[in-house]
Amino acid sequence: MRRTHTCNALTPDAVGDTVRLIGWVDSLRDHGGILFVDLRDREGITQLVFDPEKEAYAGPLAKVRPESVIEVRGTVRARAESEVNPNLPTGAVEVSVASLEVHNISETPPFPLDDEKAGRVNEDLRLHYRYLDLRRPGMFRTLKLRSKAAKATRDYFDEAGFLEIETPYLFKSTPEGAREFLVPSRLNAGKFYALAQSPQQYKQMLMVAGVERYYQIARCFRDEDLRADRQPEFTQIDIEASFIEREDMYALVEGLLARIWKDVLGVEIRTPFPRLAYREAMDRYGVDKPDTRFDLELVDLSGLFKESAFKVFAGAVASGGVVKAFNAKGLGDATQGEMRDLENAAKALGAKGLAFIRVTPEGEWKSPILKFFSEEEQAELKRMLRIEPGDLVFFAATEWERACTILGRVRLDSAKLLEKRGRLSIPQDQYNFLWVVDFPLMLFEESEGRFVAAHHPFTAPVPEDAPLLDSDPKAVRGQHYDCVLNGWEIAGGSIRIHQPDLQKRVFEEILKIPADVVQERFGYMLRAFKYGAPPHGGIAFGFDRLVSLLAGKPMIRDVIAFPKTQKGQDLMADAPSAVTPRQLRDVHVELAGGEEA
Ligand code: AMO
Ligand code: AMP
Repeated sequence: MRRTHTCNALTPDAVGDTVRLIGWVDSLRDHGGILFVDLRDREGITQLVFDPEKEAYAGPLAKVRPESVIEVRGTVRARAESEVNPNLPTGAVEVSVASLEVHNISETPPFPLDDEKAGRVNEDLRLHYRYLDLRRPGMFRTLKLRSKAAKATRDYFDEAGFLEIETPYLFKSTPEGAREFLVPSRLNAGKFYALAQSPQQYKQMLMVAGVERYYQIARCFRDEDLRADRQPEFTQIDIEASFIEREDMYALVEGLLARIWKDVLGVEIRTPFPRLAYREAMDRYGVDKPDTRFDLELVDLSGLFKESAFKVFAGAVASGGVVKAFNAKGLGDATQGEMRDLENAAKALGAKGLAFIRVTPEGEWKSPILKFFSEEEQAELKRMLRIEPGDLVFFAATEWERACTILGRVRLDSAKLLEKRGRLSIPQDQYNFLWVVDFPLMLFEESEGRFVAAHHPFTAPVPEDAPLLDSDPKAVRGQHYDCVLNGWEIAGGSIRIHQPDLQKRVFEEILKIPADVVQERFGYMLRAFKYGAPPHGGIAFGFDRLVSLLAGKPMIRDVIAFPKTQKGQDLMADAPSAVTPRQLRDVHVELAGGEEA
């Protein structure tokens, strides 16, 4: 070993010892001819003292700059009382250097490798020099935390009798879910693999294979439009088990999360998690992944306004929609700019407008639509929404789901504005886990004129709803469950269909996929189900998201060693990149604009 200690190890016990240390020059300070160097490795920092009079290293020392890698031999000595740094584990000692070896002289880094200043550095620059960015202690802590979470996961499943089994990344194209990455086959001209969006179908095959309990920390690939905080390749904790029901899966997952929170953060979380039906989540929070750390719940006013003189509201109810509202308590002083932003956010979700009532500190209601409300309606509004001076109430009148979604967005944005004003505090160390259940099995996709699977086409219907599959598919609930933490969907899964006839019916009769296409894409699965498929179900966690919540980092890019940008680029290695005509010919691909395009 080149070193006797890490840079976080020396304490007064070691005074007088000869030690060897190696690491990066964190900083250099010249104190009247004596040079102090903070030597850093991933564990910490140790102060070195160089006397430049010593010829042994005077030459090489002159070249040393921050971020250079040096190796020293020297003697540990106690610092003078006044020089002790109580903030460093090694702050009571220093190493008086006897010999120096310079391994690599660093150029000046393009940005300070300082956790405090990192937030102000352009993220593209940090990604370009990711190996420097990762040198920051905060980034190393995150990588370590991620590794710990993976270990807790593996320990938990190992103890519960689950096998970790790798499944192929090169899969076939089955475009029923997210957009896939295609990989041309050199050996099979004109044919393509798709990169696996998830191990979904393979893990179901493992259940048919009798594995019973499977998990995998698996990479998944989705050619997403990266608007939200998503990555084209990301990691799942993927789980599947046979002979289970929904309740078993809830208990298994709650145990996993309790284990991870305990091993990684030392925090005990409360189980079982509360459960919320999809409909109730939408009704109360306007979203299927509610952040329940604060209230500000939505209220349904359809009954109140169904015969109102205000035609926008009465009309919405008459045509089968709803009138919903919510009171952004204490946001009565929202600025014009903030109101405009809220309205634009609502309009982006299909709102025709965002009616509001602003209440002055004196209790006077200000609103362009106040004139349409009768006195009784106003009194009812005040009661139902508990309107007080200084409040701001928003309305949405349209179809149920849209109205919920619009106000759900406005609720979250209003909460941010209230936090900024110090009128709402959302505790960062509070973990509100919950299950969202009873999703519809199918959603009607207007643009395609057909039903699509709300989760994926392998999800089983809730048994008591199955008879409605033909008569009223919309009313059928799926055995699908999402696990939500503080407003983030951290996992989703379901009990699967394991009967070949039902699976075929779902593909062909409900999803209206032509029989030959079903055969071509899913024929192997339907065949497998004819050979003793056990009842089974599973779930998958977005591991990156889970770690970002554990680490208290807002973006998943912050917890991935080498993430892609919003445009799917790796700025460090510069991918994706052009390839040669020869490479294209090898895989039988021609570019639309000619080979040089
Ligand atoms: P689903 O598609 O819901 O389910 O994915 C599971 C979880 O993966 C995370 N996730 C992502 N994270 C980062 N970047 C992305 N592009 C991305 N896409 C998804 C989310 C999500 O909750 N096979 C099923 C699971 C099952 O039924 O067992 C599946 O993949 O946190
Ligand atoms: P209008 O009568 O169209 O001028 O609308 C009056 C007010 O109601 C304006 O503030 C609009 O932004 C708002 N508004 C219009 N349609 C809706 C709707 N469907 N839901 C909520 N507010 C609306």
